[in-house]
This record gives sequence, structure tokens and C-alpha cells, in this order.
Amino acid sequence: MNALTRDLADLVKIVEAKADGKDCFRQKLHLMPPTGWLNDPNGLCQFKGIYHAFFQYSPFNATGGLKMWGHYTSRDMIEWKYEGVSLYPDQPFDCHGVYSGSAFIEDGKMYLYYTGNVKLEDGEFDYIRTGREANTVLVVSEDGKQFGRKQELMRNSDYPNDLTCHVRDPKVWKENGMYYMVQGARTQSDEGKVLIFESEDQLHWIYKSDVKTAERFGYMWECPDYFETEGRKILSTSVQGLEGGVWDARNVYQSGYFLVEGDILSEYELSDYELWDYGFDYYAPQSFESEDGRRIHISWMGMPDCEEYTNLTLEDGWQHCFTFPREVHVKDKKVLQQPVKELEALRRGEERAVSVLEKKGTKVFEAEVQNITGNHFRAVLAKELVLEYVNGRFEMKFTSQDKTSVSAGRSLRFREVSEVRNVRILADVSSVEVFVNDGETVFSTRYYPQDYEIKIEALDAKIAFWEL
Ligand code: FRU
Repeated sequence: MNALTRDLADLVKIVEAKADGKDCFRQKLHLMPPTGWLNDPNGLCQFKGIYHAFFQYSPFNATGGLKMWGHYTSRDMIEWKYEGVSLYPDQPFDCHGVYSGSAFIEDGKMYLYYTGNVKLEDGEFDYIRTGREANTVLVVSEDGKQFGRKQELMRNSDYPNDLTCHVRDPKVWKENGMYYMVQGARTQSDEGKVLIFESEDQLHWIYKSDVKTAERFGYMWECPDYFETEGRKILSTSVQGLEGGVWDARNVYQSGYFLVEGDILSEYELSDYELWDYGFDYYAPQSFESEDGRRIHISWMGMPDCEEYTNLTLEDGWQHCFTFPREVHVKDKKVLQQPVKELEALRRGEERAVSVLEKKGTKVFEAEVQNITGNHFRAVLAKELVLEYVNGRFEMKFTSQDKTSVSAGRSLRFREVSEVRNVRILADVSSVEVFVNDGETVFSTRYYPQDYEIKIEALDAKIAFWEL
């Protein structure tokens, strides 16, 4: 630990101690920063039985600032314990941010790979082609509590030379005795793609190949993730720079996936890009395999560079949270997401109804609507958040776009779906996640109610409601 680490650690403790935890939009089930700003999930894993969720954390600035890795642990993904900051920006190769990365578990050790961000100072730099370092760094932990010496593995000069300075977010896996790493990148011609590196020993990495779409698809791909579940290979990435057509009605940046035919390590074909989530607040997800073999997926429930709307928690000195952990399944080439099954243990005070259910005053709840017929579905939360099937699409919309209203400026998001069969709603104090048709289409949003209530209408459908 150097003097910078020591002083940063002291300063973080001081600002965290000032957070009184009394604000009204504090989440109950969703991970949020102790104070300040949270963005991407990092280093997600289950290690020696314990779940670890690290997060991009700017404790000193609720609008985003110097990034470090905050750390939560859990035995069940329900109750989380804050473990403090695990990685500080305290070395020449990561001094302007311990950026996103992943965990790889082998032989009882946790290997954390991340991007060390450095922004050089000079009025001439554009910070795209010049003025920025993206260093690939490894830290090894034996116990998930103490994190060893940082080892700088690669610098920009080790990446292919048709790239800008934007290369980041390593995710590592092992296959046929070799280690592989994907990283997101932006080329000199402003094309997003994924880079693949390979290594025999986790320390020496060489560039192998890239993965991209046939046509240019955005200018930057962030936070790549590659995994196989239920016999399907999936390449996930968060894409910046999609414009025109359908993209204009969506978020500024997107997070989605390609189904991969073949193998990204040799010959591959990518499916169309599908979004993980069609709501307002969703970016930079990451997945991991739990010890019981489930593919678990967690995302930042937030959106960078977004002028359109805001978060009312800013007044209380914090911003953003994670999505509730989801299980990813693949059925008939369809990717389905559902809250992890651990959630069900929290269900209390079950209420059941047919066609209509109305409930006032419950802040944290789950509602499940099954056997929907004739595409008849409408739910209104806090009088202003409407979930509705209309004209061949499922919509999430707010009736007021006032920046101080329930929406804090959010308007409308939708996806065209041919029918609605079932809907599951998971609401926390200031967030709502909606799983349509067994989780084939998902919408996530933050919201800021004064009065909590929900009314669900779905003719002849079976409705169940639980407080959580
Ligand atoms: C995605 C991202 C990553 C980067 C991190 C920095 O939200 O831009 O690409 O590593 O955030 O906080």
C-alpha cells in the first residue's frame, strides 16, 4: 500500500461515514453505492461459495468521477455485505480510474482483470486517438478479501495498430487448456468490435483475432462477455453510436447480444443483435456461472451520457444501482431472463385475483400475471408509470416527463411483440423491472414515487402479488 492508497482509503471512509442512509429512494434489494456514483458490475463470480459483486465506484462524486472497485459479497444474492473498496487507482498505469473488468476463478484463486485508465494532460489531445492509455491489469486474490500486487499485462502498444486508444473491459475464460480474453474496442475508422487475446499462463497475452459484424455496427463496443449456456454460445456487448431508424427511439447506448453459430475462436456467424433490456436504465451487463451451473447476469441499472432524464437520488448524494441478478436461459434460440430463484424465498402476504388487482402503499413487491388472453394487459404504478400492450407492442411509458416527477424525465420505450402471454414485475423502492413472455422481453427503469400503488388489469388473467 502506497501513500496514495492510504489517503484514498481514508478519504473514502470519511465520505461513506457521512452518508446517513435515511433518504427515501434507497433500494432494498438492489445493490447501490454506499455514497456517490455506481456504474458497471465488475468481477462478478461465486468463489468458495460466496458471491462477489464488485462495482465501478466514484465515492467522491455522485455524477461520476475517479473510478475504483467497490465490493459487495453475499451468500444468497439477497443479503449483501459491503466490503469496502478493493482496488484503488493508485498506480501509474491506473491512476485515472480502475476501469471495468472481470473475475476468473481457477485452483482456488480469484484472478481479477481490469483496465487501468490514464488520461494524459495536454490541450491538444482528443482522448479518442490521442491522450489516453488503456492498460490491462491483473490482480490475484487467494481469499476474495486481500488483493495482491497489480501486474500490468498489456498497454496500447500491445494491441493491434488499427485501433484508437479505446480498448477496455477484459473478460477471461479457459478453453482447451488455453486462456482467452475478450476486450471491447474502437477502431481508427470508428468501428466497434471485440478483440480476442490468448495466453498459456494468464500473464503473457498475445492478440489472436477480432469479432465484428459484416456491416459497421456503432463506433465502440464496451464490456464484451462471451459464454455458452444450454448449448448456445452468446457474445454480449454494450454498443455506442447506433443511430437512425429504430435506434432513435431507444437509449443513447445499447446493451445486447449476438447468438454465435460456430466459434468466435475460429469460424463464426453472428445473429442479429438483440437487446438484453428495452427499458430506460440498463447498460454494461456482465455474467458469471454460479457453482450450481446457472448463468447469472447483472447489469448497471443506469445510462451514461443521458441528457433526457435524471435521477432524484442525486439530491441525497448517490446515483444508480444494479439490476436484480437474473438467470439466463436459452429455449428454441430465444434468450430468456428471470430474477434468480432466490427471490421467491422473500415472498410474503400472497394475494391472488383474476382480471384486476389493486394495491396501495407497498414499496417492494413482485407481481405475476399469467394466462393473459387477447393481448389485454395494462398496469399503472404510482399513477404515472404505465406498462401496456398496444398496437402490437409492449410499452413502458411515463405520463409526465417533468424532471421532478415520478419519471424524472423518462418518456417512452417499447418493443414490438406479436403477443403478450405473461408479465412479471419486480419493484423496489426506486426501480421497476418487467419480464414479458417468460423474460423474452425485459424492461428496466428507475422511478421516484411519492405514493406507492399499482393497478393491474388483464381480462381473465391470473394475477398474484407478494410483498418482498
Ligand atoms: C461502461 C464503461 C466501461 C469502462 C467503465 C468506466 O459503462 O464506459 O467501458 O470500463 O464504464 O467506468
